[in-house]
Amino acid sequence: MRGTNMIVAKAPAKVILFGEHAVVYGYPSIASALDLYVKVNISKRKENGLVVKSNQYNIIWDNPKKVPEPFKPLRRIIDLISKDYDVNIYAKNVYVEINSDLPPGCGLGTSAACSVAFTAALLEHLDFQYEKEKINYYAFEGEKVSHGTPSGIDNTISTYGGLLLYVKKDKPVIQSLENPPNLVFVLIDTGIPRNTKQAVLSVAKLFKKHSIIGSVMDVIGDIVNTAWTEFQKGENADVQTIGELMNINHGLLSALGVSSAKIEEIVYLLRKKGVYGAKLTGAGIGGYVLGLLRKEITDRLEKTLRTHGYKYFISRINRKGISIEHIR
Ligand code: MEV
Repeated sequence: MRGTNMIVAKAPAKVILFGEHAVVYGYPSIASALDLYVKVNISKRKENGLVVKSNQYNIIWDNPKKVPEPFKPLRRIIDLISKDYDVNIYAKNVYVEINSDLPPGCGLGTSAACSVAFTAALLEHLDFQYEKEKINYYAFEGEKVSHGTPSGIDNTISTYGGLLLYVKKDKPVIQSLENPPNLVFVLIDTGIPRNTKQAVLSVAKLFKKHSIIGSVMDVIGDIVNTAWTEFQKGENADVQTIGELMNINHGLLSALGVSSAKIEEIVYLLRKKGVYGAKLTGAGIGGYVLGLLRKEITDRLEKTLRTHGYKYFISRINRKGISIEHIR
C-alpha cells in the first residue's frame, strides 16, 4: 500500500437477462454485469489486527475467532490468501469497510461482488502480484461458503464484467462478450422476498408431472441462443428484437409457474409505459422485474414508478468488471 491512504475496490452486481430456470436443466443462460456495485475500502489502522465493517448489515468483525455469519466467505478468502502467500493477515493493521448500492440477498449477485471486491482490495493492499483470474478463483471459494455448490457465474461476471453466456455442466461453459450493445435496464423490486429453492423445486414438480415442460425449456434455450446472436452484433444489435425476446421468455417463465400477480402487474406497467421488453429475472415469484429501457421514456417511467411507490434501479451494462482506485 505504498504512499496510499486508502484502496477502493468496486465490483459489479449482475442480472440474468435470459434463460433462468432452464439453466438448471443444462440449457444456456445470459447474464449481464450492472453498474451497481459492492465497494470495499481498505486503509491502515494504528493498532494491529484486522477489522471489517459492513455498513449493509451494520456489523463489525474484529475477533478472528468469532466470525459473524455474513463474513464467513471473507474469512475463507483470508485463510486461503494467508496460506498461499504465507502471511498472517489477522495480525496486520488493516481496516476494511464494505458498502453496497444494493441490499444484501436481493438476487443480483451481491455476495459474489463482495467476495470479488474484498479479494481485489486485500491483494492490492498487501502489494501482492495478481491477475483477474486469481481474484475470480478466491471469490469463487468465498461463494462456495455462501451458496454450497454455486455455478461460478456470479463471481465470473463480477470479475470480468460485460455479458456472459453460461451453460451448467460438470465444468461450466462460459463465453464472454466484452463489447455488448449499449443497453439501459430498469430493475424494479416486487417487495416479495425471493425463495430460489422453492421456485426451482416447483418447476421440477411441474416438469415431473407434464413432460411438455421439456418443450417449454427447448424454446427457452432457442430464445437464449437467438438473443446471444443478437448481442454479438454489439452496437448493431436490434434492441427491439432483444426486448421482444425478453417478453417471449417471460411468457414461458409464466408457463413454468414462476410469475406472480405482482410480477405481472409490474411487467404490464412497464410495457404500457413503452419499454422494449420486460420479464421477471432470477428465480421469480418475488425478487426483481427487469425492463429494457427506451431512453425517451426514462423520465416518465421514473415518475410513474415513484408515484406507485416502487423501489427501483436504473443501470447500464458494466464492461470492465472489478476496478481499483488508490486514494492518497
Ligand atoms: C436464480 O437466480 C436462477 C435460477 O435459474 C436458479 C439457478 O440457476 O440456480 C432460477
